[in-house]
Amino acid sequence: MRGLAGRRTRRALAAAGVVLLLAASACTGGDDDPEAARVEVFTWWAEGGEKAGMDALVSRFTADCAGQQFTDAAVAGGAGINAKQVLTARLAQNDPPDTFQAHAGAELTDYIDAGRVEDLTGEYDEWGLRDALPQGLIDDLTVDGKIYSIPANVHRANVVWSNPQVLSEAGIHAEPKTITAFLGDLEKLRKAGIEAPLALGRDWTQLMLLEAVLITKLGAERFAGLFTGATSWNSSAVSAGIRDFDKLVKYSNADRDSMDWPDAERLLIDGRAGYQLMGDWEAADLTAKGFPAYDWFTFPGNGDAFQWLADSFVLATGAPNPDGTKCWLSTVASAEGQRAFNAAKGSIPARTDTPTDGFSAYQLAAVEDWKAATPVPSCAHGSACSQAWQNAVNTALSAYSTTHHSVVALQKALAAAATQFVKQE
Ligand code: GAL
Repeated sequence: MRGLAGRRTRRALAAAGVVLLLAASACTGGDDDPEAARVEVFTWWAEGGEKAGMDALVSRFTADCAGQQFTDAAVAGGAGINAKQVLTARLAQNDPPDTFQAHAGAELTDYIDAGRVEDLTGEYDEWGLRDALPQGLIDDLTVDGKIYSIPANVHRANVVWSNPQVLSEAGIHAEPKTITAFLGDLEKLRKAGIEAPLALGRDWTQLMLLEAVLITKLGAERFAGLFTGATSWNSSAVSAGIRDFDKLVKYSNADRDSMDWPDAERLLIDGRAGYQLMGDWEAADLTAKGFPAYDWFTFPGNGDAFQWLADSFVLATGAPNPDGTKCWLSTVASAEGQRAFNAAKGSIPARTDTPTDGFSAYQLAAVEDWKAATPVPSCAHGSACSQAWQNAVNTALSAYSTTHHSVVALQKALAAAATQFVKQE
């Protein structure tokens, strides 16, 4: 019922909008039926490089889809930490946005299994996407032979960003190749007066750090096995990884649990930290925030593992404007849409035939890395694990970071989550 109420509110707002639009239509040519032509797009891209990416996509949509209007339903909060809760509530109330952002892989499968998204297999054929997208990505979007979303990009999670001036002032001139060397550099920074040299944020950003450490400890294949049941969370290699993670956390800011990733990023920009592990949306965000002088390296010991995630857009079941939404999706799917979006967002295009003009040096390097890399999925960003599993792991990290600080208790909680959520194929 609240869904209906939500729709009524939107109608009332739309009706009020009609008056304004009619007043404006004398100049713009107007819109015959503004309510029917709105496409409500639900994401968590609300500021910085993320918003810049969205704005670029919206410009293409406006050019491609005459008569359709974009409605921004973004809910701020990195990794969708708030947005996913709002979306879950809206879907439960049968009040879906027209389209929403969903990560390729396990997270998307949640929505497919719950019947929340429409089959787009026909559009894949119509728009020639089977040839334009890598087969591996298509596989991650497919369930029982059907494809349910349009990928906009591929992001890399396992990257360390640095403030070169801070490092140089502490006498650090090379990237660390091992976790031990990284810990050594963090100690050097601390001795040079940087109290919390590793900028860190809340639960899901801690999960990203832990995942990067576990990729080093286990290697790409055994790491991926943590989420299929093939690798045990109780092994001594995982224990050693969690101990290293704990050492790294001890070099981070004490107020981490109250910080989203852009707050932690601010510590790096302001020279109060030397490093931050974060996905490569950070490259575009650092530039958007006036700090293009960053440097980066793959997390020490990860080798050629490219921890990937992909943002994709769906046609929600019961979308109020399916035709307009398909036009939005065709813009997302197009090479020009992907170029414009990714140039601003910092990711690499999902389409392999996308021109790369306007891409940063980091992005051009990522495009090349992706071709030769070993792909590894991410739990923090839904390619490896379901939302329920993600929530359990985030809860475990939050308890560790805010309360018990025990590596043993953390490992137990992570192992319990795996037992509960690993899918029995
Ligand atoms: C990821 C998402 C990225 C970026 C990031 C930080 O989950 O895939 O596009 O938005 O969160 O919010």
